[in-house]
Amino acid sequence: MPSITGKELRTKFLEFMKSKGHSILPSASLVPKEDPTVLFNTAGMQPLVPYLMGLSEHPEGSRLANSQKCVRTNDVEEVGDNRHLTFFEMLGNWSIGDYFKGESIPWSWEFLTDPQWLGMDKNRIYVTTYLGGGDAPEDLEAEMAWKKVLEQDGIEPESGVEYDFKNPSNNPKGLKYRYRITKMGTDDNWWGLSHRGPCGGDTEIFYLLDKWPVDYIETEVSKMNPIEAGEFLENNLVEIWNNVFMEYEGETENIDGKATPVRLSPLKSKNVDTGMGLERIVMMLNGFEDVYQTDLLNPLVQVVNKWENTKN
Ligand code: SER
Repeated sequence: MPSITGKELRTKFLEFMKSKGHSILPSASLVPKEDPTVLFNTAGMQPLVPYLMGLSEHPEGSRLANSQKCVRTNDVEEVGDNRHLTFFEMLGNWSIGDYFKGESIPWSWEFLTDPQWLGMDKNRIYVTTYLGGGDAPEDLEAEMAWKKVLEQDGIEPESGVEYDFKNPSNNPKGLKYRYRITKMGTDDNWWGLSHRGPCGGDTEIFYLLDKWPVDYIETEVSKMNPIEAGEFLENNLVEIWNNVFMEYEGETENIDGKATPVRLSPLKSKNVDTGMGLERIVMMLNGFEDVYQTDLLNPLVQVVNKWENTKN
């Protein structure tokens, strides 16, 4: 039996955000009403772009949250693994010029780890912060906010830059495969739209699957060769939440084969835009192998199986 259903999780998230002063919005239509730049909403922030850009004030205030139905075609290459979907629900909270990193990070930690909310194992959580690139500086503020949160909970907040698994010989001697706080570049920790728009560095939160001992990364993965270690981390340290600190309007350009933030100008307000895939977090909390085992998708799988069986 699942220990938490999709509905229970959605309700918990929205209750938590309500307790932090957020107005709860309904999921907007999948087909955007006044945004000609996309065919479908690809993220919870999409219907909020005019407010994030400071073009008008949201009638519900500056702290917003919802569970938004999304179609994410840009992830289509990943679909077919155990956790990427084209159609999914994204739990999100937004600050439109209200709170920033110093609140957003501790609140994410509280929701994930406090037994009153999800009670996930703190020692299995690893995070990443933005290393900087192009016109955008390194995000030292997010790193400091994480250090504070981790230290308060007795977790060694060691930080370091990401290991280059594609070119292992490029790495400085002694660089670890993974730090509790790993600093990553634009490919991983920068978020923006495909055209000029609101953007910023992000911090991503990862969870080591329960099937591995809690200290497996330090004790075993550290001894693997880079190919094995890279594969292990890709498949077993799973991203669960993305907090984007949207403080710029800008573009991402490909410079020398690398995604690079350019032509940045500060937005009217410093915003927060978070996103957590509902199906994925339900899968993780129940210890399922894939999202298709969750109560959100399994009934559909059953129907398809039935059709298949009647054909034979
Ligand atoms: N916009 C970010 C994302 O889609 C956070 O919500 O991941």
